[in-house]
Amino acid sequence: MKSSLYNNPQLVIESGQTPQGMITWQSPSNLALIKYWGKYGQQMPRNPSISLTLEQAYTQMTLEWGPKDGTDKTIELELFFQQMRHEGFEEELKLRMQKLLEMFPFLHQMRLIVDTFNSFPHSAGIASSASSMSALALCLCSLEDELFGTLSDDVEFERKASYAARLLSGSACRSIYGSAALWGETPGVPDSSDLYAIPMESKIHNVFKSFHNAILIVSQEEKSVSSSAGHQLMQDHPFADARYQQAKQRLHQIMGALESGEIDRVGDIIEQEALTLHALMMQSNPSYILMEPATLTLIRKIRQYRKDTGIPAYFSLDAGPNIHLLYPDDKHEQVTDFIVTELVPHCQDGVYISDKVGEGPVQM
Ligand code: PMV
Repeated sequence: MKSSLYNNPQLVIESGQTPQGMITWQSPSNLALIKYWGKYGQQMPRNPSISLTLEQAYTQMTLEWGPKDGTDKTIELELFFQQMRHEGFEEELKLRMQKLLEMFPFLHQMRLIVDTFNSFPHSAGIASSASSMSALALCLCSLEDELFGTLSDDVEFERKASYAARLLSGSACRSIYGSAALWGETPGVPDSSDLYAIPMESKIHNVFKSFHNAILIVSQEEKSVSSSAGHQLMQDHPFADARYQQAKQRLHQIMGALESGEIDRVGDIIEQEALTLHALMMQSNPSYILMEPATLTLIRKIRQYRKDTGIPAYFSLDAGPNIHLLYPDDKHEQVTDFIVTELVPHCQDGVYISDKVGEGPVQM
């Protein structure tokens, strides 16, 4: 399949006919169980990844459009973040949107206002790119459909939104679908692709659809090494090939366990994945460490708790020091007690976010 799949020069508005309007989408973050780490070409993954879609950590974005004065080919955009104009984010967004101009050429022809709001504190150290860039991709597909009536088929709408979200920020492509999503070509999964994610809701056991994910905030500081720099360092990483092989094997194993409802098997694999991600960072050149002392304290406490109680609570990590604690719904009360008494004292300012698996984006 070609990487220019959705480029469409016909999506232009007749001169002087640009309408006015607005659309709002709420889109969640997601947590990768098998991690995407390393990319090629136009934001394509070196290995497939699978994620759970979250519920409470989301972005709500309104896109407003109207006629533009000039006919130049630039993107005219104002961005409001938590109700304040944010010129830094504005420039960054314009740069990212440049990558979408061949998909949505009508963007040249309008004046855009983006109003974006995150449900989680900006400084919580949670990456907001998956939720915000999936929200933007959904707004753009809604806009295209409103202007041209080209995306009335839901499957096609979501696939194009996922494709656009991938170009804006890789892992954002998985946030388009509720419950779980798979991104990257995977043997035995017919529709899987490096170009967009596909829904996995029908392929996971019910126990995972109500899984909890408590995000324990160890540090609210911005990361010292960004994810894009991290992906870059995989280019000539000594373990790169072995890592991509391993991720494929683990994906195969976890897909079986997700379908049959084997919590401990899934838990084992996600902990190994989280630690592998950070081991890759430590082995990069230059090497770096994103975990903090409290990250290790929490990991030890979680493993001890599991050993002492037999409760299947497992950790994951993103590219940062914060811990994601995953556990089944029927253990919510006990695990919440454990979090509050044993884990929260190690969180920065006692902050944690009680999240769970969600149903995916909603148009407001
Ligand atoms: O989508 P990016 O470029 O921010 O990379 C995300 C990388 C991880 O969060 C560490 C893993 C993943 O698959 O989400």
